[in-house]
Amino acid sequence: MDEKKVMLSGIQPSGDLHLGNYLGAIRNWGARAEEFDCYYFMADMHTITVRQEPAALRRRTLEQLAQYIACGLDPEKNTLFIQSHVHQHAELGWVLNCYTMFGELSRMTQFKDKAAKHAENINGGLFTYPALMAADILLYQPDFVPVGDDQKQHVELTRDVAQRFNGIYGDVFKVPEPYIPKTGARIMSLNAPDTKMSKSIPEGCVFLMEKPEDIQRKFKRAITDSDTENCVRFDPAGKPGVANLMAIYSAVTGKTYDEIQAEFAGMGYGKFKPAVGDAVVEALRPIREEAARIMADKAYLESVYRAGAEKASYVAEKTLRKVYKKIGFVAR
Ligand code: TYM
Repeated sequence: MDEKKVMLSGIQPSGDLHLGNYLGAIRNWGARAEEFDCYYFMADMHTITVRQEPAALRRRTLEQLAQYIACGLDPEKNTLFIQSHVHQHAELGWVLNCYTMFGELSRMTQFKDKAAKHAENINGGLFTYPALMAADILLYQPDFVPVGDDQKQHVELTRDVAQRFNGIYGDVFKVPEPYIPKTGARIMSLNAPDTKMSKSIPEGCVFLMEKPEDIQRKFKRAITDSDTENCVRFDPAGKPGVANLMAIYSAVTGKTYDEIQAEFAGMGYGKFKPAVGDAVVEALRPIREEAARIMADKAYLESVYRAGAEKASYVAEKTLRKVYKKIGFVAR
């Protein structure tokens, strides 16, 4: 019998999940459970590269799990776990640090951005973080890593590190492909369409658990373009604000850009913006309600993350042993 292909991804519980995380990543995960063996985790170890408030980190990690399940990731069909519960991540992370070059790490856009934002805390972990991310991935020998556009560079570095390691020791790691969605891979901030949507600009960011009226308000205030045309037309260079709203609307409704243009022909931005808000509210409503219900059941959440860590650990250990043997560590 053919082995199933493997998919893996993670999100940092450094903030509440937002529409960018959902459209760029999670939405692409759920539908695949029959076809793939799937691993999704809360990347808590990555979050401490920036200072976190401990109680908030703990709460957000569990909320993120509840939201994964509410987004359609059935724990019976997907392995859902907390990164720090699977010690092999830290262990392989160290090994891969020694096979990742200073020059490669220096070129990472996310490092440059975060170092600029947190100038008072440019720690070693922030710099070597992509080696831990490579370990997160390579431990599970995945075929595909579904991420948004901003993580592509890290997945490409993972491929380079895997190929370098395999070149020295033989075929230890499967070399994975990034899997980037056609629409939604880069959702921009609603009030600054030249910046990607992220929790650091809350007014331009729509959170999955946000109240419908707050979501509506953010869409009504979304920056459209200062052209005089006032017409819904897909032109990312000339009309980035409108193009972003069209991408969001397309991603949540499944409509093409031509269909959207036809739907709003002659209506202007004043009609378009609340319509996008409505579509997003309706897409998120079932997720929000289900996540709140799951979050109230702490025993269930615990049973999910325990079972997930056990399964993940079993798979991760097989890869780690192989690596330790290849590099010459004495077997325990
Ligand atoms: P993180 O936590 O920043 O983001 C999680 C996922 O959401 C996507 N994303 C977006 N997609 C579209 N538009 C946006 N505005 C937007 N903002 C975020 C990201 O591309 C990502 O897919 N290092 C990773 C977490 C991680 C990981 C891994 C991912 C750790 N280990 C192993 C995959 C495999 C990160 O910081 O993503």
